Order: sequence, then C-alpha cells, then structure tokens
Amino acid sequence: MSIKTILKMGDPRLLRTAKLVTAFNTPELDQLVQDLLDTMADANGAGLAAPQIGVDLQVVIFGSGAVNPRYPDEPPIPQTILINPVITPLSDEENTSWEGCLSVPGLRAQVPRWTHIRYTGFDPQGQPIDRAASGFHARVAQHECDHLFGKLYPMRVRDFSQFGFVDVLFPERSVFEGRQ
Ligand code: NI
Repeated sequence: MSIKTILKMGDPRLLRTAKLVTAFNTPELDQLVQDLLDTMADANGAGLAAPQIGVDLQVVIFGSGAVNPRYPDEPPIPQTILINPVITPLSDEENTSWEGCLSVPGLRAQVPRWTHIRYTGFDPQGQPIDRAASGFHARVAQHECDHLFGKLYPMRVRDFSQFGFVDVLFPERSVFEGRQ
C-alpha cells in the first residue's frame, strides 16, 4: 500500500510529454501500477495518470467496476491499466459533460470530448489492448491520456461560464467529494 502525493495544476511536471514504457512485466512497472491503484482508490478517482504522481511514463489507470462516488450518475467503467496508449476518434461526434481532475481539486467544467473512440496500448505484461469506447468510458480515457501529453481538462474548456467550484455547482453532492 503506497499512497502518493497527487501533483496539482501549476506543477510543471504535469505539462511534460511522458516517455514511452520500454520494459514490460518488471517489478518497477508493477510497483508503479500498484502506487497508481492505491492513490486513485484513496482519492475516489475515476482515473489517474503516472505524471500526476510525478512519474514521467505513459501509464494510466481508470475505471473501478463500480459506480464512482465522484460521478454517481455515470455508468461503471471496467478497471483498465493502459500503457503507451493511442486514441483514435471513430467519428466526428462530440459531447460535452462535467469533468473534474484530482490535480485540479474542487473544480468542475463542461468539457467537450469525442463520443466514440478506439484506444490501443498495452497492459503491464505487454499484452495488447484494443478497445472501442463511448460516452463516459471514452471521456475518462481521453482525460487520462491527455495527462500523458501535458494537457489538463481546463485547457479543453470552450465555455468558461460552465467552469466552477463543486460545492457551488452541486451543493447537494459536496458530501461525496471528501477532501476534494
Ligand atoms: Ni485528471
């Protein structure tokens, strides 16, 4: 069990392009994945990327298999560990929905994302992953993979009238947010 400090927006380590993982099935990679899982669970996150704990590698995790208390209206996403990911939109369709980030605590915004995507990459053993995803699943994958290229969701916001504090936007839900 190793809960790491989550870097916050303003830290230049969140703005780097992360390095590709070149060695799979190693104790070091397994330890990184475990740190990400422990840290995400502790924060009730829907996803977490290695740069958020200061590790400059293309590793993201997302999903939980259960409804997330930070996103109680959204369907569960299968728990996924995705390395060296590539995202391809499957159509031009976009949708806009509320998004938050553990590196941007206390805030939410309406963020446009592709509705239907394909994501490819590898699991920690080096086995290929190739999946189609839509809706919230696609949104979370795009959000986490953005972290690997120095993008935080506020950089994707188009309508800043839809950007605010969780306790103001959703007063009835702030109980779910804990330290967020
Ligand atoms: Ni994030």
